[in-house]
Amino acid sequence: MTSPSVRRRRFWLTWRNRLLSDPRFHRFAARFAPFRSIATGEARALFDLTAGFVYSQVLATVVETKLLELLSERPMTLAEVKVALGAPEDATDRLLRAGVALDLISDASGGAYMPGPRGAALLGNPGLREMIAHHRYFYADMADPLSLLRRGGGGGELAAYWPYARAEAPSAVASDPATRYSALMADSLPAYVADILDVAPLEGRKVLMDVGGGEGVFLIAAGARAPHLQLRLFDLPAVAERARARLAAAGLGERALAYDGDFSRDPLPTCADLISLIRIAHDHDDAVVLQLFKSIRAALPNGGALMVAEPMADVRGKDKVADVYFAFYLLAMGHGRVRSPQRLTAMLREAGFATVRFRWTSALLPFGVLVAS
Ligand SMILES: C[S@@+](CC[C@H](N)C(=O)[O-])C[C@H]1O[C@@H](n2cnc3c(N)ncnc32)[C@H](O)[C@@H]1O
Repeated sequence: MTSPSVRRRRFWLTWRNRLLSDPRFHRFAARFAPFRSIATGEARALFDLTAGFVYSQVLATVVETKLLELLSERPMTLAEVKVALGAPEDATDRLLRAGVALDLISDASGGAYMPGPRGAALLGNPGLREMIAHHRYFYADMADPLSLLRRGGGGGELAAYWPYARAEAPSAVASDPATRYSALMADSLPAYVADILDVAPLEGRKVLMDVGGGEGVFLIAAGARAPHLQLRLFDLPAVAERARARLAAAGLGERALAYDGDFSRDPLPTCADLISLIRIAHDHDDAVVLQLFKSIRAALPNGGALMVAEPMADVRGKDKVADVYFAFYLLAMGHGRVRSPQRLTAMLREAGFATVRFRWTSALLPFGVLVAS
């Protein structure tokens, strides 16, 4: 039995869809101003969805060819860009025009081109450029999304990029892939670090341990904000080794230590009164995350706290970043999901945490922080 509110919603959706799919409505709306924006708005949005993959590939080409870096050195003409790209003139012209249309490039007049407003923003964000470049693996998997869906995710190029997600023994992840993904993580984290630290409960804490802490970018920034804090990092051996080098280069000496380990098998060191998980839980399925929350609970002293910071699904309903982008990214990776703050809160409670507080950060992506104690 469907409830009256469900029946009302379905009736409205059926009526609306009939209207929007009726060519007579579109002819009428095109002539009648108050309805024009409804009809053209849907058509425009549909076209943007259709063209979105092409827009992304133009962006990827601009990044891969380092065209923005070239244009930022000095304005370049079509003939000069053609030589730099090694592409025929007409093809080069198409790329430049596409870049102008997408605001990545500006026509600087006098037959020359410079970075556009979005291009300039991208030049100031090396982490985003690295992110865009590594999307070649994701796009390869998304070229056949139905196969990806039917095999239940994984098994493609993105899964190979992130070996820990499917490894039987994550500790054995080799140094080459670990170096590749850790460098990407280290380059992309600075875009969020300040926003996370603005809501992080560092005050009154003695030792912070960043589990899955990558090369230590978060720890170094936290250490700068809270000079009294001792810093500990836990990650797979190949990554912890890179962290040791970065922490030493940051001059942290004995204040910072990195432990090797696999959080899905090994107990965590019991040295910290604050543990952080930055961009970790969403990489893993529920069973692994629940087990990790439990081991963290066991490793914390009385009064200790866990901070979970990562992209989260919008609680108010549909959200393109969480429900489209991250949902398919993690499907291609083969493990994990973006969870809502409520879902994570329920898992934290199940793991034994009594109190859980939630805050959105002011980062551009829907990046939330939960503090559990
Ligand atoms: C998405 S990266 C996030 C890195 C860092 N927290 C950041 O936000 O830049 C996930 C990290 O978790 C680590 N990791 C994955 N599985 C692990 C495991 N079973 N044990 C320990 N670390 C693991 C990876 O090596 C990687 O450094």
